[in-house]
Amino acid sequence: MNIILQDSTFKQLRDFIYEKSGIFIPDSKKYLLENRLIKRMQEKNITNFEDYLYLVVYGNNSLELARLFDAVTTNETYFFREPQQLDVFVNDITPKIITRKATNDISIWSAASSTGEEPYNLVMLLREKMPQLRTQVIGSDISDSVLESARKAAYSSYSVRNVPPLYMSKYFKTNGQNFELDVSVRNAVMFKNLNLMDSSKMKTVRNMDVIFCRNVLIYFDEKAKQRAVSHLYDSLRPNGYLFIGASESLHNVTRAFKPVVINKVVVYQRG
Ligand SMILES: C[S@@+](CC[C@H](N)C(=O)[O-])C[C@H]1O[C@@H](n2cnc3c(N)ncnc32)[C@H](O)[C@@H]1O
Repeated sequence: MNIILQDSTFKQLRDFIYEKSGIFIPDSKKYLLENRLIKRMQEKNITNFEDYLYLVVYGNNSLELARLFDAVTTNETYFFREPQQLDVFVNDITPKIITRKATNDISIWSAASSTGEEPYNLVMLLREKMPQLRTQVIGSDISDSVLESARKAAYSSYSVRNVPPLYMSKYFKTNGQNFELDVSVRNAVMFKNLNLMDSSKMKTVRNMDVIFCRNVLIYFDEKAKQRAVSHLYDSLRPNGYLFIGASESLHNVTRAFKPVVINKVVVYQRG
């Protein structure tokens, strides 16, 4: 297919994507949008971007909107990503929460979980380090296709490359090229589709002790970051904790959280 994404069509698509998801696609990434949408247009036998724009923007087509989210999101993730944060979560933050609450119950939300590595990772860490806990873990994402993979929980060698041998032998089984996660860990995470921009859906998650929302704010502009983070604030219990990506910051986004530094890791605590 030799079709061109005209600047004016690109801008309309970009504005629509931003309004619906908070994801801002700069001019320099126009080629990326072009490449990703061409695949979807081929599936739908659509031969120009204007028709696609019409379908997705004016067609009030929720299925096509879901496919658009699949196409425009970047879903890179892997087990034991940013391990210093995971150490602080399991060795410092969780014991603090359990002591304060004086129960063994903890609620955790991985709020842009992609294919599931992050929430499953948290479950495995707690099983190893604090097996007495009763955990409620939610994984959510805006993309249906990554949520489908998360539920299947069969991972590539790339995804498990940093998993320590003990975890590998205890929680994974090889099946051909894939590494399948143990069913007891799979069953410990409930996945659902949640858009961080969607105020009414975000209200369905409340009273979380810890939220991980890592490596997604980088795709948002300041206004969208503020919106997402204020939703996350409302979903935390008082004194609950938010982890964002190690390269991300809430500077210029909000002052509602207190930054707490533990072993050089910044964790944001709700007041
Ligand atoms: C790079 S992945 C990060 C995965 C994991 N948190 C990690 O740090 O490894 C970013 C994820 O954010 C999701 N995402 C993007 N915009 C979103 C939104 N508005 N609401 C919910 N999830 C979103 C994408 O679909 C993608 O799976």
